[in-house]
Amino acid sequence: MLIRSAKEDVKYIMFTREQIAARVRELGKELTEKFRGETPLMVCVLRGAAFFFTDLCREMDCMMDMDFIAASSYFHGTKSSGTIRLVKDVSIDMENRHVVLVEDIIDSGLTLEYLVKLFETRNPKSVTTVALLDKEVNKPERFNVDYYGFKIPDKFVIGYGLDYADYYRNLPYIAVIKEECYQ
Ligand code: PRP
Repeated sequence: MLIRSAKEDVKYIMFTREQIAARVRELGKELTEKFRGETPLMVCVLRGAAFFFTDLCREMDCMMDMDFIAASSYFHGTKSSGTIRLVKDVSIDMENRHVVLVEDIIDSGLTLEYLVKLFETRNPKSVTTVALLDKEVNKPERFNVDYYGFKIPDKFVIGYGLDYADYYRNLPYIAVIKEECYQ
């Protein structure tokens, strides 16, 4: 049987697990302050944000509900198809709630824009957006995120939930993949 290591396809590590943990801790503190006395509804955008979401929620010291939504737009490529598909909706009613939408990465911004607009039709008290990574793309009209962990250059990254063709999500750090692995 061929044993294939995910780590072998890594070109270099952009953020180590320690750097990620330290930044997630800071974001958790900021959000704890913001929602002091409130019970936010935390919404994880599956599947990429799964690790970030569970770590972030554990760094927040407030009462909260957790829910999950799934959207997809990359369909095994490295560029957004431009078409967002809602794969799974939330199950908790968000009317009159402070909703926190948690993403792994903002690239074209299309997924975030789609989900925020969808949520706004459901009459929440507020929608706050958080992403671990905010890709620096030269598009002034792009939908922007309220809180981010790290700004990153325009490179395709994997690990800590982020995939290429559904692989590499389990890498414990954020890395750049070797070009030959996706060309
Ligand atoms: C990725 C990522 C974000 C979105 C960001 O999801 O997890 O949700 O793309 O890209 P954008 O800003 O260009 O819209 P993907 O469609 O790959 O689904 P996944 O989370 O299941 O990997």
